[in-house]
Amino acid sequence: MQEKPKLNLDKSMAMFEEAKRISPGGVMGIRRPYNFVEGEYPIYLNHGYNGHIVDVDGNDYIDMLCAYGPIILGYNEPEINQAVIEQMEKGFCFSLVQQIQNELIKRVINIVPSAEMALLVKTGSDATSVAVRLARGYSGKDKILRHGYHGWHDWCVEVPGGVPTAIQELTLEFPYGDLEALEKLLKENKDQVAAIMITPIGHPLGQPVSAPPEGYLEGVRSLADQYGVVLIFDEIRTGFRVAMGGAQERYGVTPDMTTIGKAMANGYAISACVGKSEIMKVAEKDVFISSTFFPNSLEMAASMKCIDILEREKVLDNIWERGSKFLVRLKKIVADSGVPATVSGIPPMPFVTFDKTDHQYKQRRTRFYTETIRRGLFIQPYHHWYISYRHTDEDLDYALQVIEESLAVISKIY
Ligand SMILES: Cc1ncc(COP(=O)(O)O)c(C=O)c1O
Repeated sequence: MQEKPKLNLDKSMAMFEEAKRISPGGVMGIRRPYNFVEGEYPIYLNHGYNGHIVDVDGNDYIDMLCAYGPIILGYNEPEINQAVIEQMEKGFCFSLVQQIQNELIKRVINIVPSAEMALLVKTGSDATSVAVRLARGYSGKDKILRHGYHGWHDWCVEVPGGVPTAIQELTLEFPYGDLEALEKLLKENKDQVAAIMITPIGHPLGQPVSAPPEGYLEGVRSLADQYGVVLIFDEIRTGFRVAMGGAQERYGVTPDMTTIGKAMANGYAISACVGKSEIMKVAEKDVFISSTFFPNSLEMAASMKCIDILEREKVLDNIWERGSKFLVRLKKIVADSGVPATVSGIPPMPFVTFDKTDHQYKQRRTRFYTETIRRGLFIQPYHHWYISYRHTDEDLDYALQVIEESLAVISKIY
């Protein structure tokens, strides 16, 4: 199989040079070029449509990163655009709230099993930080045991710079799938733990994605009960994706509190912290939560319409069905290639990781993602991929073809 020539990315690169002069690092966080393959991936996009994105140099890609999760339907959804325009015409940023807030909260309470009450905020980090503050306010305890990425705020950020040591020491991490390790932490910190926060699907950066092993979430639930700790599922990624009501609905384990975001509005910035009334009511007076922008309603209108479409078109059933077939074919392609790599994930969230026992795995990974981007498939080396509703069967067939060709190129690396 032939290596493909490099894409023309001149405009992206020029924009990035300018950005570095005016903003530290040019672009922020996970969108920085070193998180992809530097010099091979575009940095600036111009627009998106359905399951595709187009960069500023005019290159068109099938996008299986879906903006890191929010794009559950596709880009530029006419019905959502229309709902947002109608809300814009009424006004969406006021000194008081609008009725749509009640409507969306009622809907979320109906859908998410653990939701008796809800608070609407904007980003995933907002929602997880609200959950942690409520759990602390409710329990009067300070420590948080956690597994997963929960955002950039002080209580959970993994890069220690800028965060006081005293705050870092209050959050302790446990490995996914290991009940003994969790229980050990609970014992060592007895009567000091406010909450366990866990992503119910294990998706650590750069590592295989795990569906919950048999009995695992039930085990976490009973440890939380046994030690009197609030159990929070961080379903920012899995809410409205793994099932409408998130992984808790699909796997049948109900936490005390839940955070949702990303897929609930197909790209608009809205998230929620939901949970048992007894805990949520701490926010009536003892705990302060507020932002000028939390009640802004464009995102709420987008979310209402997104949920309409998800329900009306049974979008998640469709994604699971096509995602299951995709995973089966992906496994066969990877196995047949002979490349030391592992296919993991669940149907809406597939992933391929290169086995670290292979001494060439880094070179192989870099070359693989170089070949896939050059062939017009936008996937991420360290983050699992997503299937969206507007990915057509042809898109998914082409993605598999690209993966097969790219594996053939890297099978020659020794
Ligand atoms: C599980 C989970 N929680 C929280 C967050 C933080 O969300 P945001 O980036 O919107 O602040 C993310 C973002 O990737 C996430 O995947």
